[in-house]
Amino acid sequence: MKVDGKEMRPIWFDLKSQTVKVIDQRLLPHQLIVAELKTVDSVIEAIKKMFVRGAPLIGATGAFGVYNAIAYPNYANCGGYEYSDSDSDTKKISDKYLKDECKRIKDARPTAVNLAWGVDRVLNAALKYEKYEDRLKIALQEACAIVEEEADNCRLIGEYGYQLIKAINQNKELKLVEGKNRRINILTHCNAGWLATIEYGTATAPIYTAFDRGIDIHVWVDETRPLNQGSRLTAWELGKHGIPHTVITDNAGGHLMQHGMVDIVIVGTDRTTRTGDVANKIGTYLKALAAYDNGVPFYVALPSSTFDWSLTDGVKQIPIEERDPDEIRYVQGLDKKGNLISVLVPPEDSNAANHAFDVTPARLITGFITERGVCNAYEESILSLFPEYANI
Ligand code: MRU
Repeated sequence: MKVDGKEMRPIWFDLKSQTVKVIDQRLLPHQLIVAELKTVDSVIEAIKKMFVRGAPLIGATGAFGVYNAIAYPNYANCGGYEYSDSDSDTKKISDKYLKDECKRIKDARPTAVNLAWGVDRVLNAALKYEKYEDRLKIALQEACAIVEEEADNCRLIGEYGYQLIKAINQNKELKLVEGKNRRINILTHCNAGWLATIEYGTATAPIYTAFDRGIDIHVWVDETRPLNQGSRLTAWELGKHGIPHTVITDNAGGHLMQHGMVDIVIVGTDRTTRTGDVANKIGTYLKALAAYDNGVPFYVALPSSTFDWSLTDGVKQIPIEERDPDEIRYVQGLDKKGNLISVLVPPEDSNAANHAFDVTPARLITGFITERGVCNAYEESILSLFPEYANI
């Protein structure tokens, strides 16, 4: 997507330096800094500390982590690795080393299933080959393929989601207020935009498509405490694209829905069971309850890499990450002199608990927007789009 006229992605492989580069999202919207990830440890740190975040982007970063494990191995652990610039045949990476490194990457964050999906896909591709050079080449190819596929999946999510927004726009009853056209109001939570994916976003892809095709839209952006992915990242993305938006507190959505000020809610997800339960950023569940109570359609947009086909009960089975309580206790922002600072909000000695995600049960979800189309939030409907997973 474009940032001040320049095409940007949150992750890319830099051919010149042969390294993975990412936007360090911790500093947005106030600073746009690029970080280089040259080792497995730097990939793990970037995922844990949330330089990169959002399920599809974590998956892509993990995928490049497998490439890093081969390209820049940890000499102490890699067993059987002999380095020689002159003779590539002497290079060797043991299967055990590679699998152990992949496990370390997969453990970096527990909730988004895309991480394990991306890592395992590259690992399995690399393990099909014996020779070091083949493993290196195929790992890079596969990681780059994931990036391109996820970008295309999001483009398709935009196409299918656009149809939903277009239908709302054509519904005269909803559209007219005192005889005049009015904007379509979309509410979103957290950042499921291009920063969280590769291009377009998941929840934001229909928004970008509808806006680019001339539908008059406005987005309510939940600030999304504690790390403010909504007010920092979604608002930044939408602003750079010229999309009208308003940042609201996390608690405002219910009130807006009661007053007819939200036409549709679209959110992303970190892991979705085959039965349609959705883990997403903490607070999503409360938005779904409010939407259900007010008859507002509540859609979840996701690429198929975010389905966990092995799970049937989201509340019981999806691991929910608990993060450092200091993310709640301290808030980051610019002071009046333009310095990026962090300030303590609660009393110094108050405890804080930081559950990063919650689970929205399928019964509260109107539908899923996927790269293969829109379906309902129950197993048969999901499998009608993804029949290859019926017997898993
Ligand atoms: O903790 P984060 O910022 O990684 O959480 C991100 C979300 O909850 C997103 O909504 C989700 O990953 C979907 S991204 C397309």
